[in-house]
Amino acid sequence: SQNLTCNSNDLKALEGFMRGLESSIDGWKWNESSSFSSNCCDWVGISCKSSVSLGLDDVNESGRVVELELGRRKLSGKLSESVAKLDQLKVLNLTHNSLSGSIAASLLNLSNLEVLDLSSNDFSGLFPSLINLPSLRVLNVYENSFHGLIPASLCNNLPRIREIDLAMNYFDGSIPVGIGNCSSVEYLGLASNNLSGSIPQELFQLSNLSVLALQNNRLSGALSSKLGKLSNLGRLDISSNKFSGKIPDVFLELNKLWYFSAQSNLFNGEMPRSLSNSRSISLLSLRNNTLSGQIYLNCSAMTNLTSLDLASNSFSGSIPSNLPNCLRLKTINFAKIKFIAQIPESFKNFQSLTSLSFSNSSIQNISSALEILQHCQNLKTLVLTLNFQKEELPSVPSLQFKNLKVLIIASCQLRGTVPQWLSNSPSLQLLDLSWNQLSGTIPPWLGSLNSLFYLDLSNNTFIGEIPHSLTSLQSLVSKENAVEEPSPDFPFFKKKNTNAGGLQYNQPSSFPPMIDLSYNSLNGSIWPEFGDLRQLHVLNLKNNNLSGNIPANLSGMTSLEVLDLSHNNLSGNIPPSLVKLSFLSTFSVAYNKLSGPIPTGVQFQTFPNSSFEGNQGLCGEHASPCHITDQSPHGSHHHHHH
Ligand SMILES: *[C@@H]1O[C@H](CO)[C@@H](O)[C@H](O)[C@H]1NC(C)=O
Ligand SMILES: *[C@@H]1O[C@H](CO)[C@@H](O)[C@H](O)[C@H]1NC(C)=O
Ligand SMILES: *[C@@H]1O[C@H](CO)[C@@H](O)[C@H](O)[C@H]1NC(C)=O
Ligand SMILES: *[C@@H]1O[C@H](CO)[C@@H](O)[C@H](O)[C@H]1NC(C)=O
Ligand SMILES: *[C@@H]1O[C@H](CO)[C@@H](O)[C@H](O)[C@H]1NC(C)=O
Ligand SMILES: *[C@@H]1O[C@H](CO)[C@@H](O)[C@H](O)[C@H]1NC(C)=O
Repeated sequence: SQNLTCNSNDLKALEGFMRGLESSIDGWKWNESSSFSSNCCDWVGISCKSSVSLGLDDVNESGRVVELELGRRKLSGKLSESVAKLDQLKVLNLTHNSLSGSIAASLLNLSNLEVLDLSSNDFSGLFPSLINLPSLRVLNVYENSFHGLIPASLCNNLPRIREIDLAMNYFDGSIPVGIGNCSSVEYLGLASNNLSGSIPQELFQLSNLSVLALQNNRLSGALSSKLGKLSNLGRLDISSNKFSGKIPDVFLELNKLWYFSAQSNLFNGEMPRSLSNSRSISLLSLRNNTLSGQIYLNCSAMTNLTSLDLASNSFSGSIPSNLPNCLRLKTINFAKIKFIAQIPESFKNFQSLTSLSFSNSSIQNISSALEILQHCQNLKTLVLTLNFQKEELPSVPSLQFKNLKVLIIASCQLRGTVPQWLSNSPSLQLLDLSWNQLSGTIPPWLGSLNSLFYLDLSNNTFIGEIPHSLTSLQSLVSKENAVEEPSPDFPFFKKKNTNAGGLQYNQPSSFPPMIDLSYNSLNGSIWPEFGDLRQLHVLNLKNNNLSGNIPANLSGMTSLEVLDLSHNNLSGNIPPSLVKLSFLSTFSVAYNKLSGPIPTGVQFQTFPNSSFEGNQGLCGEHASPCHITDQSPHGSHHHHHH
């Protein structure tokens, strides 16, 4: 549309670039005989310089290539050195392709280049030590396979650099002292490499930094109080390293800092006073360190705090009762802190609270906890696993959690029943009351919770039949009711035992659609209508007293990945229709009273023999061979009489 004629030298350079690729680029042609344009200024992803923007004396410069933008085009092959001849290039953007090989130093001499984005490719080798790009603002090689040291002279000829992203590579060694020469840099991303050693003092000279991302490395040593010199810092992530010692008391100087994550390090000592009084902090995560002392947050000062994660530390003392005065505070993770306390009465006024975890925090008195927390009108997620040992789950009919979406109270040895008051939580999506001592029957009203897609009642002492209503759970029948918008990340631990390190989900929507009623004393049969649960991924009915046949209709659960019916009293055949469950990766019918041939089919071949053991009458590849006499007299292959 610019109607420019491309410069012939630039056309040659692009030909060279094209020859380096294994794939072709639609709309790029230089063959005179073809009907396509040999004017590279018309090609997709190319912008040329026009004389209009130049002034009359530069007319000869018109038609020079200034932008090469070919992100997300599935290109593979090498980045040819001939690109170095595009000496008017301002933007080179090849993000999200499969380009490989090393980067020739000659490529890094483009004196007009402002943006170099090679992120999300397969570039490898050492990073060139000499870069001479005096106009460069953005250097992005995020998510490649570079290794070796970060060049000490990286910034020596990058006077205009604003953004450096080297994250998600294999850089090792320490952060070079020369990083101090990147003086204009605002974004420095070194996350997810193999960097070790301590942070060089020179890094604290980068006073323009607004984002410093060092997470997921092996950096160690104390965090210098010179950190306070980075007064423009907005986001600081040093999580998942090996930093130790005290967190420096520099947060009054960092008065633009809104995001601070230092989780999973070896910090000890108390939370610094300036951090407890930060006016700017919005998200604070100090999870998984060995911080000690009382938790204190000055809510009169912390007016921007929205997310607080102090889980897995050695804090002592009581639950801070002033937290409802932090008027923007929405999510709190206090898992694995030994409080030995009740939830403070003041939490009744916690109107901003949406997500709360006190998992494994020695909380006592579940009656009082629920009575208080029901007043938090915006509470959506409540995780109370591993507390209240041997108390009784209250059944007070007046309890009401109007907006609750996630309730996890597992592993508490709770007595009582599935409480009726939960039927007042119409938005419930995820309910986990597993590993308790709850008794009685499973209430039919669970089936009318239209958003419920994850139900774990395993390892209790429930009796009676599986309510038929569970076969019509709306969100498991059709996708329309699927879980909506993701909420801010909040760590849920799926594993119930105390030695964590299990699966962690940060979003309710990451949980697989599941019904787990295993390890109870349920009887009756399996409803054929379970086949209607087309969205269900996991059905676990292991270890109950279920009897009757396995319904052939179960083949309707087309998303099913796990089906465990073992350790029941099921009889009859394994319906051949189950081979249609093409996503099934875990299957067991062991220890029942099943008989007849084990169905054959792609999926079934992959299951171990143990999936079928403990059934006297089963035969086939996974058991003893099927002799004619083993088959049912009405088998279709051997007609004795016509
Ligand atoms: C370029 O402009 C010339 C005249 O200014 C016109 O004749 C020609 O058709 C244009 N070419 C394209 C490809 O638009
Ligand atoms: C940083 O820049 C200065 C001045 O250009 C130079 O003398 C010094 O060697 C550079 N540091 C490193 C580590 O390259
Ligand atoms: C806790 O932090 C340590 C030290 O960084 C790390 O090795 C460990 O994996 C972390 N644990 C969890 C559960 O994140
Ligand atoms: C809490 O913050 C307020 C407002 O900044 C301040 O006036 C007060 O002194 C602080 N209290 C403590 C104990 O630090
Ligand atoms: C639980 O808390 C309530 C209200 O604070 C109190 O009345 C009750 O005695 C407590 N129960 C136990 C067992 O501590
Ligand atoms: C059932 O829960 C108890 C704790 O209440 C636990 O020790 C046991 O391992 C669990 N059993 C199964 C099969 O999950």
